[in-house]
Amino acid sequence: MTATQYVGKPVSRVDGRAKVTGAAKYAGEFNVPRLTYGVIVSSTVAKGRITRIDATAALALEGVIEVLTHENTPRLAWLDRSYQDQIAPNGSPFRPLHDDKVVYSGQPVALVVAENFELARYAASLVRVEYAPEPHQTNFDDAMAEAYEPPTGRAGYTPPPKPRGEADQAFADAKYQVSAQYATPTEHHNPMENYATTVAYGEEGKLTVYDKTQGAQNVQAYLASVFSMSSDDVRVISPFVGGGFGSGLRPVYNVFLAVLAARQLKRSVRVSLTRQQMFTFSHRSETRQEVRLGAARDGQLEAIIHEAFADTSTFEDFAEGIVNWSGLLHQCDNVRLEYRIAPMDVYTPADMRAPGATQGTFALECAVDELAHRLGMDPLEFRLKNYAERDQNLDKPFSSKELRECYRQGAERFGWSQRNLEPRSMRRGNRLIGWGMSTGAWEAMQDKAGAKATLHVDGRLIVGSATADIGTGTYTIMTQIAAETLGIPLERVEFQLGDSTLPFSPVEGGSWTAASVGTAVKEVCEALREKLFKLAGKIHDSPLGDATLEDVVFENGEVRLHRDSARGIALTEILRRSDMATLDEEVTAKPKMLEQSGYSRHSHQVTFVEVEVEEDIGMVRVTRVVDAVAGGRILNPKTARSQILGGVVWGISMALHEETLSDHAFGRFMNHNLAEYHIPVNKDIPEIDVIFVHEDDTIVNPLGAKGLGEIGLVGTAAAVANAVFHATGKRVRHLPVTLDKLL
Ligand code: MOS
Repeated sequence: MTATQYVGKPVSRVDGRAKVTGAAKYAGEFNVPRLTYGVIVSSTVAKGRITRIDATAALALEGVIEVLTHENTPRLAWLDRSYQDQIAPNGSPFRPLHDDKVVYSGQPVALVVAENFELARYAASLVRVEYAPEPHQTNFDDAMAEAYEPPTGRAGYTPPPKPRGEADQAFADAKYQVSAQYATPTEHHNPMENYATTVAYGEEGKLTVYDKTQGAQNVQAYLASVFSMSSDDVRVISPFVGGGFGSGLRPVYNVFLAVLAARQLKRSVRVSLTRQQMFTFSHRSETRQEVRLGAARDGQLEAIIHEAFADTSTFEDFAEGIVNWSGLLHQCDNVRLEYRIAPMDVYTPADMRAPGATQGTFALECAVDELAHRLGMDPLEFRLKNYAERDQNLDKPFSSKELRECYRQGAERFGWSQRNLEPRSMRRGNRLIGWGMSTGAWEAMQDKAGAKATLHVDGRLIVGSATADIGTGTYTIMTQIAAETLGIPLERVEFQLGDSTLPFSPVEGGSWTAASVGTAVKEVCEALREKLFKLAGKIHDSPLGDATLEDVVFENGEVRLHRDSARGIALTEILRRSDMATLDEEVTAKPKMLEQSGYSRHSHQVTFVEVEVEEDIGMVRVTRVVDAVAGGRILNPKTARSQILGGVVWGISMALHEETLSDHAFGRFMNHNLAEYHIPVNKDIPEIDVIFVHEDDTIVNPLGAKGLGEIGLVGTAAAVANAVFHATGKRVRHLPVTLDKLL
């Protein structure tokens, strides 16, 4: 792909108009005839047994159809593996309304179905549930005593690398040392759109399930297996997703309950979650971490020891790569990394944007800042001195790594050379100014994915894959890739996604969609190109003569000779002259494992942050951010920049605002609403300057794109915390950095 008519251009979102005009439909907005409404009753205890459910008052109301509980649900699939979705951790997935056991606060214990939503909601308030509570554990500091190493084998989880060198000895011998404990709280994804499912009950019990999800096929396979349905009888559709951030990677209980009710009642059903219920499935794991770093007088890093603890549920072993990054980001010969998880009476944590990386990098990159400070060394200079030319975890070269360029361009744009080394040395009136920085990395993955493409005789090209667009710009970049590859004007291309009947795609996550689905779209259009070329050759008096595929170019809806652009034929003309209404092709694109496996494949990021701190009250405001990213080829600078902006906002939010608090007496999240769960508003966010450094990579995938959904977040919280230290001289190691911790 050398021509760049569309790829690499700042094309506006192709779905933008539908979104701002309200034409885009979300899961809870699909209207079907005779729809019923389900409202969920949530457990008020964290652990125990349900001793009695009295639904008499609810059922007595005219228009209430049914109250589903564990007492009247039909027998469903028995084995755990029937409930394990594509990315389930080891363990026994939670089964809604399965038995009388309560395993976490907020667990769904009943579904009230009525003819309208208001009635269902009122009726749900009348359902009396009695419990025999048992002692619960939701206090992570206490739960840590039960920590264990997570079993390996979960798809997508890489355990920490084996120790290298003699980390403990090297640390003990090091002239300069830092040993510190860091903590990150529970956080919730809080997408704007609440989870919802609308099940349309069709002929012979066939179901069309409009669901909010990051993986239509993941949900489809789960439903087929749990409800023992034939694959053809359940179709999952999810064209628009109002934010996911990982919360929709696995099926959420609303889809289970909606399907359960629809099958039971033989009616269409909608189930949506309240904002409070948005806190009752999946969260970012809480962590406690200890980092020990040792360095020589000249700043050479001699030892890294990083031990992390994170929470999981009592029924699944959620595992994410928290400490692994500490063996990758900087050059060091003596490294020991450990990771353990501890069960609590909560729902299983889930991947949440830059899962693991952002918690682990917060600890490491703050510790690096502490060490540089102890050495009296500029933190950027320290990082450059310990620049890793090779991935020491894997002992492999990088497929590409323009991190040095990120440091250079980012520092220049920010004006880093003007920084005073001493904390509390920069002021603006009565405000202390702090400048901090941090590094981040994220894996550049490619997974197997399929795509199909159909060219119509009227000139439209329809391309599809069962992926999602969680706001990342998937619709747009796939449209660009297809238009580019087949030389068709952008506005004649339509990309379809979010439908389980489309060709295979993994869940949209891990920043792998551009690489995985993008490659499939490129390959299917290349295959279509070949087909068209062959057809053109068979046409009587073909203007292409005996040309080969190398001799022609596809542009503006035509195929023409390179050397004589007057000789060509419109693609629609090829179809017409071949008596065809459509021409289609389907492929499954697989990563070139052999070629890729010799290399470490990562994107990189450097964040520079300025904060102002009001000295008297400890209030922190981020006033400037420069984020320099090496993310391979940038397919669309506009949507790419938006991805990084989102990541940086998340980083600022993690540093200063977000924290889900539990009331351990009840074992319940207390601030389960957007009033008390703090996230930034416009006034909290300054100008964010995004730099994409040039990075060529022919190994990661045929597009050379590394994925940008998570990298903008990875190191950002650490950069903010480091800036706060530079401003105040006070080191806050327990996120979020709130003013009580600064005073
Ligand atoms: Mo992402 S946390 O894989 O949606």
